[in-house]
Amino acid sequence: MARKKVVLAYSGGLDTSIAVRWMREEWDQEIVCCAVDVGQIDAGEHEVIRERAVAAGAVDIEIIDAREEFADRFLSQALKANSLYEGKYPLVSALSRPVIVEHLVACARRHSADGVGHGCTGKGNDQVRFEVSTRALAPDLEVFAPTRVWGLSRAECIDRAKDWDIPIEASVEKIYSIDENMWGRAIECGVLENPWSAPPEDPFTMTVNSKLAPSEPTEIVVGFERGVPVAFNGEPMKFIDIINQVGAVAGSYGYGRIDMVENRRVGIKSREVYECPASLALITAHQDLEGICLERDVAREKQRVEIRIAELIYDGLWHSPLMSALQSFVDNTQVHVNGEVRLRLEPGRCFGVGRRAPKGLYDHDLATYDIGDTFRHEDSAGFVRLWGLSVETWSRRQGPGAR
Ligand code: ARG
Repeated sequence: MARKKVVLAYSGGLDTSIAVRWMREEWDQEIVCCAVDVGQIDAGEHEVIRERAVAAGAVDIEIIDAREEFADRFLSQALKANSLYEGKYPLVSALSRPVIVEHLVACARRHSADGVGHGCTGKGNDQVRFEVSTRALAPDLEVFAPTRVWGLSRAECIDRAKDWDIPIEASVEKIYSIDENMWGRAIECGVLENPWSAPPEDPFTMTVNSKLAPSEPTEIVVGFERGVPVAFNGEPMKFIDIINQVGAVAGSYGYGRIDMVENRRVGIKSREVYECPASLALITAHQDLEGICLERDVAREKQRVEIRIAELIYDGLWHSPLMSALQSFVDNTQVHVNGEVRLRLEPGRCFGVGRRAPKGLYDHDLATYDIGDTFRHEDSAGFVRLWGLSVETWSRRQGPGAR
């Protein structure tokens, strides 16, 4: 049997480094590493990742900068749909998997590979996302998941790294499992596995403790076009730069921490801690602007669609016909979501205090209780009588009004 060539989604961490050599030894595969940067790789880290992949036995390594694409094609879509899984989690990890897979598949094609590989375990959501996206984009490619079968403990992985001369510092006690990108950070494991224990301070890097936040509130202004941020404090900016700016301010106020027990696709309940200053602040701003831009029935229907979209993203169905159909609906609702929102930051809090939109539906003359009122008060009496006619009839015949 010919040796198979596999493109492995490579993070540069312990597991995927061991995976390179393990797949070579145990499965006799030729491994090409593909590291996709969605905001988690520091510029100075590229060389280290490259050397580590080669030391682990990869025949080649590609490091792909997908940051702008991630923001412009994935995060913008999630923001337009105010995507929060189970009403809380802005889908940090779930959103990155489909863009990573797109690059993995492209890399597999460039190298004429037989399959792709990932380092996800059998208990999580990420395996689902990697594999379902791969099958949607390239059903002919095989998917390999060494960590699901190798049965190595963390200590054994560290021993293997030593035996195989793979340069990596890792301690036997890895306290947390962390996945991060510009939309936030997901923190699992360690003391967090007890859902009764409050999260300790040490894993947070994007948010300060709100007790250490400035006591003076501050305000920022986010400008939107078609539901996507285009300006920060009045200055036109790329979406990716707005994400970073908003994240820095919101994080400095200790805003964006989430502590929840969520339902994984595989049926496990999992205690998750997140810090998502940029995504939560931008969703707050976007929802606020929609408040004056969306017609009532559209707004209500959109909320139902949003729940479904968040589930699809979480469940690995970004690349699916339903997702694409629902995205079209959302895009259609965003045509007039243009304008600005003033967000106020206070320790641990972020909320809209002002909004304006050139085509907004807020009509001062209809709303005002002051002079200038154009609302036809005389229309209301008949409207309300008919609105209540059905319950009135019910009351008289069958309810409290029936005597
Ligand atoms: N529970 C989150 C999700 O499923 C976060 C997953 C984090 N992944 C990780 N490898 N630590 O989207």
